[in-house]
Amino acid sequence: FGRNLRLLDVVASTQDELRRLAEEGASEGTLVIAEQQTSGRGRMGRSWVSPAGKGVWMSLLLRPPVPLPLTPQLTLLAAVALSRAISRVVPVTIGIKWPNDLLVNGKKISGILLESAAEDERLRYVVVGMGISVNLDAEDYPEELLPKAVSLKMASGEAVNRSDLIAIILEEFERLYGLYLEQGFAPIRSLWEAHAVTLNNQTTLNTPQGPVHGVPRGLDDMGGLKVELADGSYRTVYSGEVGS
Ligand code: BTN
Repeated sequence: FGRNLRLLDVVASTQDELRRLAEEGASEGTLVIAEQQTSGRGRMGRSWVSPAGKGVWMSLLLRPPVPLPLTPQLTLLAAVALSRAISRVVPVTIGIKWPNDLLVNGKKISGILLESAAEDERLRYVVVGMGISVNLDAEDYPEELLPKAVSLKMASGEAVNRSDLIAIILEEFERLYGLYLEQGFAPIRSLWEAHAVTLNNQTTLNTPQGPVHGVPRGLDDMGGLKVELADGSYRTVYSGEVGS
């Protein structure tokens, strides 16, 4: 991954750049990295703070030979790859908040945005957008985000070399993706569950079908989150987020 690399200074969003390249036929592993994004996007239509030179703002192209309904598996794979990579470079303990927010001491350090294109129920490509708040200082955040966001530098007390981090992310991603293509979702599922901070506690999940109240117990084979409801029955949720 990353052998085909587009390194940009200022860009609206690395997602848009890579989607354009994907439509033009770019190969799997193509990577777009920007120093700064002026319209960084988050999940659920939110914006993503991406100041110049302070974070890792990048998008990675996958062309997985899997059917569209298995996209949640890739969402979870990305979270595992990123959390393993970060904790190899910085001495912090990362928790994954379903489906793919990375937290340090309960505060968000990184977010992942998957955007995909499909044809006949098969994925044509997936653009994995990764935002890691590496060397941001408190004043780089809008005030209302400070109670729930943190950078690696703020959490560890030391500035982190972004190139080293990117190299390790690509290594972990490539290894886990290879494992996934060879052995399927089972190993990814165990790794995700081991890192998850959102299991076995009463939670409200905001889903496209409305709020779901219950206790998340683990993942199913497709990458959905199995939630135990008050009456003891189970419901599986495939997209959404943990309510705050
Ligand atoms: C989230 O937690 O809501 C997802 C945030 C994803 C941010 C990354 S930064 C690189 C890529 N380009 C974007 O515009 N967004 C993603």
